[in-house]
Formats: sequence, structure tokens, C-alpha cells
Amino acid sequence: MAPISALIGSTEDSARQILDAIESQFQLSDDALVRITDQFLKDFRLGLSEYNHPMAMIPTFVTGVPNGSETGIKVPAGYIASIMFFALLALRTFLALDLGGTNLRVCEVQLKGNHQFTLRQQKYRVSEALKTGEATALFDYLADSVDAFLTEFPSSPNSAPPDPFATGSSALDLLDTSDSSPAVPLGLTFSFPVEQTALNRGKVLTWTKGFSAKNAIGHDVVQLLQDAFDRKHLHVRCVALVNDTVGALLSRAYTAGGCILGSIFGTGTNGAYVEKVENITKLGDSPARKHGGDMVVNTEWGAFNNTRTTLPTTPYDNKLDRESINPRLQAFEKFISGMYLGEITRNIILSLIDAAPYPILFNGRASALLNKHYGLDTAVMSEIEQAWENGRDQPSSNDKLVNGSHAISNASAAHPHPSLSTPTRHFTEVDKLSPEDRSRLERIRNIVIQRFALDAADVTLRDAAIVHWTSCLVANRAAKLSGCAIAAVLVQTEKAKLGGGFVPKDEKITIGVDGSLIEHYPNFNARLRASVRTLVGEEVEARLNIGLAKDGSGVGAALCALQATKQGL
Ligand code: GLC
Repeated sequence: MAPISALIGSTEDSARQILDAIESQFQLSDDALVRITDQFLKDFRLGLSEYNHPMAMIPTFVTGVPNGSETGIKVPAGYIASIMFFALLALRTFLALDLGGTNLRVCEVQLKGNHQFTLRQQKYRVSEALKTGEATALFDYLADSVDAFLTEFPSSPNSAPPDPFATGSSALDLLDTSDSSPAVPLGLTFSFPVEQTALNRGKVLTWTKGFSAKNAIGHDVVQLLQDAFDRKHLHVRCVALVNDTVGALLSRAYTAGGCILGSIFGTGTNGAYVEKVENITKLGDSPARKHGGDMVVNTEWGAFNNTRTTLPTTPYDNKLDRESINPRLQAFEKFISGMYLGEITRNIILSLIDAAPYPILFNGRASALLNKHYGLDTAVMSEIEQAWENGRDQPSSNDKLVNGSHAISNASAAHPHPSLSTPTRHFTEVDKLSPEDRSRLERIRNIVIQRFALDAADVTLRDAAIVHWTSCLVANRAAKLSGCAIAAVLVQTEKAKLGGGFVPKDEKITIGVDGSLIEHYPNFNARLRASVRTLVGEEVEARLNIGLAKDGSGVGAALCALQATKQGL
């Protein structure tokens, strides 16, 4: 059993003052949330009207989303979905290549119509050297991975369930090297900012999430990939380019029947939503604008408020930014996404180890791991919060995935558990806790010793409580800010009013989400919902149908590839 109360070498007062000061820096008042959302809306409108703004509001040239009536014959008005609608009635097989999260994935997707699809996939690691080396080396590796997938995981004709339409062929069937055969159509999910000019054309604007490959910026990403396929004589043709958020939007729409927003809360964060073309004024007199209707816009909200005039920046955030590969860029993403939350937490923990005149954590000792840049993975914070959740008398039900893995519940969102609203107690009096809470802290202490590679003698229960509190502070702020982004889209699409008091016409407002934070981080979804409720009111929040777009990148790329082949691209 660890010593419970030792305030080794510190004084209660100085420790409390330091912890209180940190806590207040991470608080976000309701007013602050409203201010941030309001700024979001202004930046949305600016990005829709002019090019070259950090919040790029990229037109994707995806002009419709599946709307859920694919089993019938009637094409509902409202979306320009007819191409996709009829095509989805026939089974089609596509390759999808997904670059931009933690792993590179190659998938074979069969679109079976009537909301159904099957997907086979293989993940490949992208080394740091590839992320930061020459772009041609990175794209050669992508081509090699597709080659390996097709060679190592050929489709077995019997591997897919019986096909009601029986008109499709597997990707491998199409891989005939004779020049007359059709090339395998591939959709590329490329989850970085790209200025798209067509469904299969787009120039890389900038790298994010730790990538910085040389000689890619300003180049057409489809061409870069196609050149790599051609160098390797692979009979594969990249026909469509899609961001992962667009993939999430399309795949959620395909399975749920309509969707207004696809968003990612994973290694990075971003959202794509359905906008009226008339509002995308920067398209000027282009044919797309004249055509009217709707178009999916990739917001690239990770770059919101790069000037940090509205975001609640702390010294820990500034340190992270200064030491990052892309200082002064992707400000919002750095407050929110899985790539960075562990690093913010590590920065706070280090400051508590170094606190003067007395250390507040671990006897003033760090480990090599804690001293290492990005040494603390966000998954460890998740584990720590889960250890606390596990022993709770009344486990929270408001964060569970329900209905298989395809819908995220809003149950009890109106009754947040105390840990949602007050995750900020720093437990300076651990010896006053109940035996149950003490045993939960004991579990956290074990995780801390193991994951931070610390000497057990240097970790008290109080240290465990402080580390748990730190994780809650950082994750709670991230979830609240994520709520601002979602609320801004709801207001922009006229589903809500900032401040509430709006009764939506739609019974359900469907949102597709993907990413490790929203899927796995305890209470992230519930905290996000609490923030949306604060911003747009209970009526709207209760109607949000937030569901996992689990294979969004693969299915979305396949849907876009389908649209592209129908357009003869
Ligand atoms: C980064 C990328 C963006 C992507 C997001 C989620 O923000 O810039 O394109 O959608 O990460 O992967």
C-alpha cells in the first residue's frame, strides 16, 4: 500500500495554490464557449467567401450524400444524390487507401446497396522517416502497400456473403495486366488540407499531424499517387480524393440514411458538413456555383483561431506549440486531438514535478519516458480515466456506444454524472476519501508507476489523484471545445440557434463521428454533448443522433470512387 498523505517536501498551501491556478486556467465558462462558437461562425463565413484563410472551408465537389431511401425507386428531392442513388443499387468493388491517421490502411470495399457494405482491410505502419522524408518515397510506399495488399490478401470469391446483385467483381479480378482491361478504381482518403478543384484533383495545402514530407505542398496529390502506381506498373487508377471527414459523412449517411456532419476526433480533428452552394461565395461564377444545390465543405477546423486570440491558451499549450513541427498552425487541433492531449498532460505533470520551492509530484523525480517529447500517449490518460470509471457505484450510461457500434447514445445527457461536471477536484485530501475511491486511486497509481516508468516509492495515492485530475482537466477542455465546433455547424446549417430556444423541425439530426477519442476516451462524448447543450439548448442536443462512422474512410472513399467512375473520371 502506498503512503497516503505524504506531501513530501511541499506545503499544503503552496501546492493548493499551484493546483488551483492550473485548474482555473483550464476552466471554460459558458460565456467563453459562446464566444468561441461565435468566432467559429465568423471564420466559417470568411472561409466560405475567400481563399487562403486558415479555416480553409474547402469545397469538395461532392454534391450529394446518400439519403437512406436506397431501397426504393424514388429519388427524394433535396440532394443531388441520383448518381450515387442508382449506382448503389449495383454491387461494386473498390479499393480505398487511407492516409492520415496513426496507420496507413488499404481496404477493399464492396458496396452492396440498401445500406450494406463489406470491407476487408490491412494496416501498414508509416515510419517517421517516411513522414518527414521525400514525398516520392512516401507515395512509393503507398503504392507498395496497395501492391502488397492485392498480392497477400486476394479476394476469395466465397469470402463475401451472397451478392443479391451479382454484377460486381473483386478488386483482384480487375487486376489484369493486359492493357485492355480496366484498371482497379481506387479512392484515396487523404486526411490533410487539400484545395480540391474536382473529385479527383487537389493540391496539398499544408501537412498536419506530424507529417512534413518534402516536395508535396502545392502538388496534386492524386497525381503524386498515380505517378507512384505507374512507376511500379500497378494497374490501379486513383479516381477520387476524399478527406476522412467527408468519408465519415458519406458512410454515416449511407448506413443511417442522411447525415449533416462528418467529424473526426482522433489523431487530428476536423469536420465536413453539407452547405448550400449559394453560401460558398468564393466559387464565384464557376459552373459548380451556377449549378446550385448542396456541396460538402471540408472545414479544416483544426486550424481555427491560429492567432489564439479566442482560444483559452495556457503556458502548457504554448510550450507544446513552440516545440511542435508546425508552430502557430493547427491551434484548435492542438487543444483537442489525440496526438496532443498526452503532451499537454505531460507538460503539466513536468511542471508539478519541477514545482518550487517544493515538488508536487513524484518526490520531484521524472523518468526518461516522462522527459521525452511526446513520451505520454493520450491512450494512457484514457486508461487512467477508465480505471476511475470502472469502480464507480453507478457507471455512467451516457457515453456508451449502443446499437452495435453504430450509434452513440445521448441517454442521460441531461443528467451529467458528477465526474462530467466536476472533474476538477485535485484531491489534496486523499485520506478523507471513501475506501472505494481509495482503491480506485490505487489502480490509477499502478498504471502511473507502470506507464510512466516510475519508481513505486516515488508515487503516492495523492500523486495518482493529481494525475487523474490533470487528465480530466485536459480532456474536459478538449471535449467542451469540440462541442463548440459541432454547435457552430448546427447553427450554420440552421438546425439550431446559438443560445438555444430553437425547436428543430427534424426529429433526428444525424452526425457521423470517428476517431480514437470519441470512440474510446471515457466520457468524451458525454462531455461534448454537455457543451453542445450549453450552446444550443436541450431541444437540439436531445435530437442529435451521433453515430460512429466506423469504416468511414474506406466506405467514403469507395462511395466517392463510385461517383467518380459514374462521371467517367
Ligand atoms: C487534420 C487534417 C484534416 C483531417 C484531420 C482528422 O486536421 O488537416 O484534413 O481531417 O486531421 O484526421
